[in-house]
Amino acid sequence: MADEQFQARFRTREEIRSFGAIGNLQDGAEITTNGLHTRLIAWPGIGFQTEAVHVLTLHPADESDTYAYGMAEEAMLCLSGRGEVLLRGDWRAIQPGDIAYFPETVVHAVRAAADATEDLVLVTQITPPQFDLYEPSGFYNRAEATLNQSAIFKATLNASHVEIPQHQMGYHDSKSKVSAAHLTPAEVRTGGAIFNVYSGTPFPGLGIPAQLVLWPGAGTRTAGFNFALAPARASDRMHIHPVSDECLILWEGVCEGYTAHGYSGSQFVPLDTYDVILAPCGVLHGHRSTDTPSVLGGFASPPQLDLLLDAGLYKHGAFAPATFERLATAQVPGLDELRSATSP
Ligand SMILES: [Fe+2]
Repeated sequence: MADEQFQARFRTREEIRSFGAIGNLQDGAEITTNGLHTRLIAWPGIGFQTEAVHVLTLHPADESDTYAYGMAEEAMLCLSGRGEVLLRGDWRAIQPGDIAYFPETVVHAVRAAADATEDLVLVTQITPPQFDLYEPSGFYNRAEATLNQSAIFKATLNASHVEIPQHQMGYHDSKSKVSAAHLTPAEVRTGGAIFNVYSGTPFPGLGIPAQLVLWPGAGTRTAGFNFALAPARASDRMHIHPVSDECLILWEGVCEGYTAHGYSGSQFVPLDTYDVILAPCGVLHGHRSTDTPSVLGGFASPPQLDLLLDAGLYKHGAFAPATFERLATAQVPGLDELRSATSP
């Protein structure tokens, strides 16, 4: 766990907005959204403005409300467990590593498998943030149109810690007709689709094997997710996104992430699995591996045009069409061994 001076729970919204922080998928204020237990990781209450990232936990047979967001797109990444999403008019199975994408106004729902023996855990991106979700908990004041900072700070600081199972995300060669690989970007944009973190458009911008998974070339509008396998002792480029808030998650392994601790400077901070680099736009960030490889991926919104321009994936006002190529763990020496050595 990162040193307390870098942890989001000990920082104010203004400090995170200006300097970033380290969060964790297993920490964060807890509320109920759409009938589900929800943990708030990156959201307006801690300084994010263009996206919210939540963790949803469903016990076996739990089911959400059926709902749509008029304003926001939603992406649900299945981190562990088994379940189904209501997508394109029917219930569709999702497994760890899959991402269900729902455009704004599209009715959807999620449920955990009734015969499962463990919880279904999802990491969701909502973009732009639907801050009305925070009103029932008292975190948003409609009359004053303000966030209740004192209640948010107290809830975040005192949030309980939970353990999420590790090493479940994998590549699934979906033959499903709702797989993004089998739909046009226009179809994805209007009705949604299922993506997989190991399938996307190769992206050289960070200097490590990486894929763009959710991005406009694949049919999303502001929803964005990229996924990278970092070899041992590799570093990605230090960078700042001019307009995109980013929530960069260490999915597997350990590494060091770059963040600020205040006016006195910035530095690399040791990160554990499920730690999160909270990097609102304008905040310098990056990562470097230790002696072992690591698996990273970030939710960012709006699309990181700075990186897409650099990679030639945005030209003359148009995005290049997505491809769906497999990112193989075998191409990073030591990664499969790390996973097998640390899996339960
Ligand atoms: Fe970034």
